[in-house]
Amino acid sequence: MASKKTTPAQPPNGAPTMQRPPAEVTFADELTTLRAKDEGPRPPGWRLSPRAVRTFILGDASLGVRRKFVGNPSLVDRAMVALATNRGLLLVGEPGTAKSLLSELLAAAISGRSTLTIQGSAGTTDDQIRYSWNYALLLAEGPTTRALVPAPLYLGMKEGAIVRFEEITRCPLEIQDSLLAPLSDRVLAVPEIDGADGMLFARDGFNVVATANARDLGVNEMSAALKRRFNFETVFPIPDFDVEMALVRDETRRLLDRAGVPNAPSVEILELLVTTFRELRAGETKTGQAMDRLTTAMSTAEAVSVAHAVGVRAHFLGDGEATPADVVECLSGAAVKSNAEDLARLRRYFEQRVSKRTEPHWRAYYEARHRLPG
Ligand SMILES: Nc1ncnc2c1ncn2[C@@H]1O[C@H](COP(=O)(O)OP(=O)(O)OP(=O)(O)O)[C@@H](O)[C@H]1O
Ligand SMILES: [Mg+2]
Repeated sequence: MASKKTTPAQPPNGAPTMQRPPAEVTFADELTTLRAKDEGPRPPGWRLSPRAVRTFILGDASLGVRRKFVGNPSLVDRAMVALATNRGLLLVGEPGTAKSLLSELLAAAISGRSTLTIQGSAGTTDDQIRYSWNYALLLAEGPTTRALVPAPLYLGMKEGAIVRFEEITRCPLEIQDSLLAPLSDRVLAVPEIDGADGMLFARDGFNVVATANARDLGVNEMSAALKRRFNFETVFPIPDFDVEMALVRDETRRLLDRAGVPNAPSVEILELLVTTFRELRAGETKTGQAMDRLTTAMSTAEAVSVAHAVGVRAHFLGDGEATPADVVECLSGAAVKSNAEDLARLRRYFEQRVSKRTEPHWRAYYEARHRLPG
């Protein structure tokens, strides 16, 4: 389904390109290579063997497959094992730890499509999960499969594909529970349709990957019955400084390339940014001294987007070279949000920690602290 026309490198007649194509489009070449070389055993309905899925997600330089998710390989293995059995997979974790990214990569590799996605919210309805009706056809023909408008769960069961359910714990309980029969009995009833078409039996390859944010209250509210049908896997923030630096550097470079920005922030600038994020996230400095944590998550995903903003700012509004002052300008929107207490904490961080650093870029960072709002 990865149509060449939609690849960002080939805009149709100069028309605007997609801002963010799905993984199966962005990495279509890698998936083709892996499929051609894949000799490992495949679970029924999977387009790649679990070994090849693992390579797609964690990368293999010798095959030209880049590392997309930085994390414990055994987490990826456990996630795949859950999906190859008749249990769903629930990825839980702090915001911005790449839960959605991992679920997208799993779906793209296993089913060749990551777009059968339900976005969970307080307003999610059954129609958006299972199916709804084309009312013109419904009136003309009555309830038939032609008049039925399938939603992601219906399509995933019918076609044997992975269905993604983002932020499942934001949905009301009774909506979450509509997954019970599809996950346990692998069947979806369409009571409006008589006869055999009124029961949709899932094809091999169907399963559900859900994500839930540990900070959103509600994970605990999932019914015990539904919990039993999911394997829970926790996705943790990146523990190692150098690994996080490398990820932020590479992701920022990729985003800036797409934005037409030639200069990426220097290593010094990224070091300021990643150190600040990590120290505020952990509530302690690199040297182990305790300090205030922010209520905002200060995730790697936000570090990437701040580094991206710093590069964009320097290119379009500055002289091209990002400065510590650009970091201060871009930091407050990500770190403080609407919490006045967090602004005070961030100021204290500058006064108590940044002021102690003697390197020139840290001095310049400290000097720019007046740019914090308020
Ligand atoms: N371990 C990681 N591996 C790869 N990228 C990561 C990792 N952690 C964070 N990122 C960055 O975060 C981005 C993905 O964030 P994503 O939206 O998937 O997080 P999330 O956990 O779903 O967050 P939320 O809970 O807010 O929905 C990636 O594009 C990447 O830039
Ligand atoms: Mg997410």
